[in-house]
Amino acid sequence: MLILDGKIAAAAVKATLLEQTQALKAAGKRTPHLAAILVGSNGASETYVASKVKNCEETGFGSSLYRLDADVEEAVLLAKIAELNQDPNCDGILVQLPLPKHIKESKVIEAIHPAKDVDGFHPVNVGRLVQGLNTFIPATPYGIILMLEHFNIETKGKNAVVIGRSNIVGRPMSILLSSNIAQGNCTVTICHSHTKNLKEVCLGADIIVAALGVPNFLTGDMIKPGVVIIDVGITRVDDPTAKKGFRIKGDVNYEEACAKASAITPVPGGVGLMTIAGLLKNTMKAYQGL
Ligand code: GUN
Repeated sequence: MLILDGKIAAAAVKATLLEQTQALKAAGKRTPHLAAILVGSNGASETYVASKVKNCEETGFGSSLYRLDADVEEAVLLAKIAELNQDPNCDGILVQLPLPKHIKESKVIEAIHPAKDVDGFHPVNVGRLVQGLNTFIPATPYGIILMLEHFNIETKGKNAVVIGRSNIVGRPMSILLSSNIAQGNCTVTICHSHTKNLKEVCLGADIIVAALGVPNFLTGDMIKPGVVIIDVGITRVDDPTAKKGFRIKGDVNYEEACAKASAITPVPGGVGLMTIAGLLKNTMKAYQGL
């Protein structure tokens, strides 16, 4: 059984990007710059944004982190985005989600200039993805594609099941896996909370992407031997014996899945690291121009 180690695959992506930024620096040019905006102080969001900023530094990118209070007016956030849209030294803009309830997520996403939308959430970029045009692929699905590529996982003609239909992961993932690309050409089924025969659907899958955010949801009896398992779950589960008081749990029962799968991503150490690799690649792409 192959462990799809995110550390290894992400390190390969970052090494290539670092070479590119070193060449830019040697030529006296500026390097890509990511601006991240964090509204409020959600623990998980703090961790993700800190990791994104740290990874920028490790790859030779510039980064700025703008923190806004949880009760900030929507107009203030939109004004910050407008300022960054105009800033020639800022290549990519990322507003960490989720946002507080009084802020309309779609309005914020649509305020980001599509050419700086390194999350690939703007409707223009989603439309481009659907049509197979050059675009920013949302970082998590992009990272998964990079992972499949790194470990030479064959996808052509396979039955892929994506569990979850979020705009961040499930929906773009299903589009990519069905696209006519190297890590695509699958027959894709999207499952969600109203899917009736989920177990039978999963038992027919050669590749399963679990992205529903329910710890240990996918169990050994739901998968067939030889399946490739991509676990996108990163839920914090209380655990008083852990140093931080919680553990990160995936959507897959890892031990049970390991007994049957031909390849699996661990949690942590799998998809999460690839999300950052996808974001960094998008930031380089924003710098170079779509
Ligand atoms: N929240 C969870 N995943 C993501 C992501 O990929 N981008 C942003 N901006 N927020 C997130």
